[in-house]
Amino acid sequence: MNVLILGSGGREHALARSIASSPLCTALYCAPGNPGTATLAQNIDLDPSRAAEVAAVLDRYAIDLIVVGPEQYLVEGLRDQLEAFGALQNRIFFGPGAQGAQLEGSKQFSKEFMLRHGIPTARAAYFESGQEGVAIAYLKKLTGPYVLKADGLAAGKGVVIATQLEEAERELRELLGGRFGQASKTVLIEDFLDGREFSVFALTDGKRYLLLPEARDYKRVGEGNTGPNTGGMGSISPVDYVDREMWRKVEERIVLPTIRGLEADGIDYLGFVFFGLIECQGEPWVIEYNVRMGDPETQSVLHRLQSDLLRHMVELSRSEPLSPVQTDPRAAATVVLCSEGYPLSARKGDVIVGLDAPAEAVVYHSGTRAEQNQTVSWGGRVLGVTALGNTLSIALERCYHSAAQLHFEGMHYRKDIGT
Ligand code: AMP
Ligand code: GLY
Repeated sequence: MNVLILGSGGREHALARSIASSPLCTALYCAPGNPGTATLAQNIDLDPSRAAEVAAVLDRYAIDLIVVGPEQYLVEGLRDQLEAFGALQNRIFFGPGAQGAQLEGSKQFSKEFMLRHGIPTARAAYFESGQEGVAIAYLKKLTGPYVLKADGLAAGKGVVIATQLEEAERELRELLGGRFGQASKTVLIEDFLDGREFSVFALTDGKRYLLLPEARDYKRVGEGNTGPNTGGMGSISPVDYVDREMWRKVEERIVLPTIRGLEADGIDYLGFVFFGLIECQGEPWVIEYNVRMGDPETQSVLHRLQSDLLRHMVELSRSEPLSPVQTDPRAAATVVLCSEGYPLSARKGDVIVGLDAPAEAVVYHSGTRAEQNQTVSWGGRVLGVTALGNTLSIALERCYHSAAQLHFEGMHYRKDIGT
């Protein structure tokens, strides 16, 4: 099969590594890709938000299967646009259409979906621009911390957790006042859930599903989970507080009702569902859905996947019998190496040295660019190092040993991933 991966980060590099290793894969393309994916696939210079150009690439390279990394293209309706062009006949597009992508693209849609299908999630109220007065009156009835969420996509910055009421009021006014334009025209005020977060990933055809190993990511930039939120500074899999009993509850109360809910609501869905969960006193709750894999969760999760990812996708989409997911019992960890100033800014253009040095870890490219004969930083999250180990601490030791062999000016990373 000829496979095309859309996206250009560490997640896409990890997807490329898995898919390239599949005996079903004849040729692999990545658009736009990065210098890391270029070692496994042919990169195609393409902006995936231009559906007509994607359609042309599908024909030119005789693509059989498309897998989408970032949510943006899905939420914008890439699948629907390609269908309208007739570009998906005899092709598998592994990602939902605009309707299914609303699970991630609209917090109000996903909240209503969960409530309709009895899926445990925090209580929420919705307010629109112009309703600042009512919204603040509602806030005043709550006790902190206060959770405010822009309804739409806001590049991972749409959630505010404020400890003080004054701060919550100020943030609420700014959000409703248009901080994220259309995306924060509606704001959810949600009850705060106090617990330990983890994520679970399903591949589904909207009726059947396969589950990948769970993961945890580390969102704050600073050690001890301090400082501003980032796209993710590291990840681990497995997660020690996610035992068999927790998995049973997650599958029974969250995964199954979600898949059944898609079916009941008549939402055609083929792709990943990423369940962002939190364990509160032994019970799992949903914080959010994503309609794609996570970055940097994918890097750790796929290192533990022993069965063939591409085969799983193909079997689901062709309604073939499903091969079981096979998981490596060892632990995987990923540590993300960032550029100076990230996440507030991201310095670009620093030369990266040592890319071939790490022997115990795989180096994934996130924000890099090839310039002359060098690779330079080109984004906030620049590289990720991922390793396996018989224990989590061995996997982490391998990551940190590898990180120390890499260098670019201003590089920083968290030294406490896994704790
Ligand atoms: P999201 O963008 O929905 O992933 O939210 C970002 C982060 O905000 C989550 O990973 C949680 O750490 C936190 N968060 C979101 N909703 C809640 C909630 N209801 N209670 C506590 N923390 C939350
Ligand atoms: N690491 C979080 C995400 O991909 O959304």
